[in-house]
Amino acid sequence: MLLPHYFDHNATTPLSASVLEGMLPWMRVPANPSSRHGYGRSALEALGIARNQLAYALGAEPSEIIFTSGGTEAANLFLKGLASARPAGMLAVSAVEHPCVLKSAKQLQHQGWSVESIEVDEFGRVSSAAFQVAMEKNPRFASVMMANNETGVLQDISTLANVARANGVLFGTDAVQAFGKTPISFRELNRQGVNALWVSAHKVGGPKGIGALVVDKRLDLIPQIAGGGQERGLRSGTENIAAIVGFGLACERFENGVVLNTEYVKTMRNYLEIGLNKMGARIFAQQAERLSNTSFFAFQGIEGETLVSKLDSAGFAVASGSACSSAQPEPSHVLQAMGVEEEFSRGAVRVSLGQGNLLEDVDKFLVTLQITIEHLRSMTAVAVSN
Ligand SMILES: Cc1ncc(COP(=O)(O)O)c(C=O)c1O
Repeated sequence: MLLPHYFDHNATTPLSASVLEGMLPWMRVPANPSSRHGYGRSALEALGIARNQLAYALGAEPSEIIFTSGGTEAANLFLKGLASARPAGMLAVSAVEHPCVLKSAKQLQHQGWSVESIEVDEFGRVSSAAFQVAMEKNPRFASVMMANNETGVLQDISTLANVARANGVLFGTDAVQAFGKTPISFRELNRQGVNALWVSAHKVGGPKGIGALVVDKRLDLIPQIAGGGQERGLRSGTENIAAIVGFGLACERFENGVVLNTEYVKTMRNYLEIGLNKMGARIFAQQAERLSNTSFFAFQGIEGETLVSKLDSAGFAVASGSACSSAQPEPSHVLQAMGVEEEFSRGAVRVSLGQGNLLEDVDKFLVTLQITIEHLRSMTAVAVSN
């Protein structure tokens, strides 16, 4: 089978061969780190090594790392764990957060919490002024993501964290997309007022189903999964040693805080965007500081879902910007928050490049895209004239 060119690295990345090699032995042995025998002791040791590897990549202390089943669970632990430890009040989240934050916040509304949505500008950025407005409403805690999964827009987390701290508001950030693409130092961020952040292995060449909450130990969090007391009592359940080892090994591939050759990937992305501009695409948030691998765009009058499916048939795996969990795909909430008109937000397509992509593949993609757009436009023209 001829595999399509993979241009969807923000959805998930290919598992690195060296990571898989390192994981395999741990899938075979009976490894429960709580067991008192040799197998258990070696699992405990592997768990400790992986924790150190993560801590090193994130500029954190090993004891600040809480392994979870992924970014989603870590976000749930932060939001619900904080909320459970406090009387109900207000929490503030940006309008462009991943559903793991937005839906956790929504669930908390059933427990008496109110949710303040922090607005973004037309480029998807949370300004410190907009953030200050939200902080003055006295939320108990706030969450703004480091990098957006759709647009790639990077937020100025240090500045926002300082504003949160000045207002006495606890602050967390979703670092799932930023991790591996931009250097992160939890120590430095913590000094600025970030109390917690979360990351996920499958975005950095590691396995799916494993992530971590990196959390200031002074933060009072109520565990959301009760049981045997693993992970300092914050996340019970027998540790998935193979996945944790894989996460640690994925972090070992980091250089200067990133796993991606950002300059190489940025060259390809910029080349792609020159081609897209020539074809008349609207590139969302192009003026904002963004991840070097992400391009989110639309062509007027072309449905994103249709384009993604045509490109898939032509051998290119890209993502559409609509949430298609329901029968009727909803336009992207991120683009809605940026004030993008529906005719464009319905057309949104995301290309997210990775280390394994080649400039010549981007070239082929541009040729295929041009042909596909012309074809779709000619079909619409025929339909209209009929
Ligand atoms: C910004 C962001 N946060 C959280 C998640 C969820 O991470 P996981 O897939 O590990 O649950 C994702 C995954 O798409 C993401 O892009």
